[in-house]
Amino acid sequence: MNKKIGVLVSGRGSNLQALIDRLPGLPLEISVVISDVPTAFALERARRAGIPALVIEAGGKSRQEFELALAGALCQYEVDFTVLAGFMRLMGPQFLAQAPGPVINIHPALLPAFPGMHAQAQALAYGVKVSGCTVHFVDEGMDTGPIIAQRAVPVLDSDDADSLAERILEQEHILLPEVVGLVAAGRVVLENKKVRIKGE
Ligand code: GRF
Repeated sequence: MNKKIGVLVSGRGSNLQALIDRLPGLPLEISVVISDVPTAFALERARRAGIPALVIEAGGKSRQEFELALAGALCQYEVDFTVLAGFMRLMGPQFLAQAPGPVINIHPALLPAFPGMHAQAQALAYGVKVSGCTVHFVDEGMDTGPIIAQRAVPVLDSDDADSLAERILEQEHILLPEVVGLVAAGRVVLENKKVRIKGE
């Protein structure tokens, strides 16, 4: 049976779109898309695909209320797990305790290097020759949870943050649907804070 997922977004939603485009080949359906930003283009992408699209704003709520509202909505849609796809907030213990199932995130750097905001600019400023993207389980830290999979790209002398971000984004659009499919198929096993992919 198909798994149900919830996707949390804050912006343009190109990773959400990559997931939507790959849905026919994946053992899952997207039950709900939730944005903390009412103007996020990701909401429009969800609606176009016929997926329920909700806005839950942080403003006017305590952090705890916000996190419980998000987790409550995910429970209401009976999701098996949650994907943060360009969701620009650090989620705390309340959310992680109440969210139905694991939470995974995509980050535009090869973690544990360059967590947090502006990862591509951080990579350029450091002078690394290779960067990439990481899909990982979310824990209470900033991009610190167990790594599920990564894809690498070269960093060129001619790069600025935008050109590097674009090269990484192409790989994000491959990696995220692949990993979400593996999680949905029950092939991602977490043992002692390390991830093993069954059948590889
Ligand atoms: C991506 O680079 C993602 O890794 C990061 O935020 C960006 C979101 O892009 N967390 P989009 O909204 O999926 O287009």
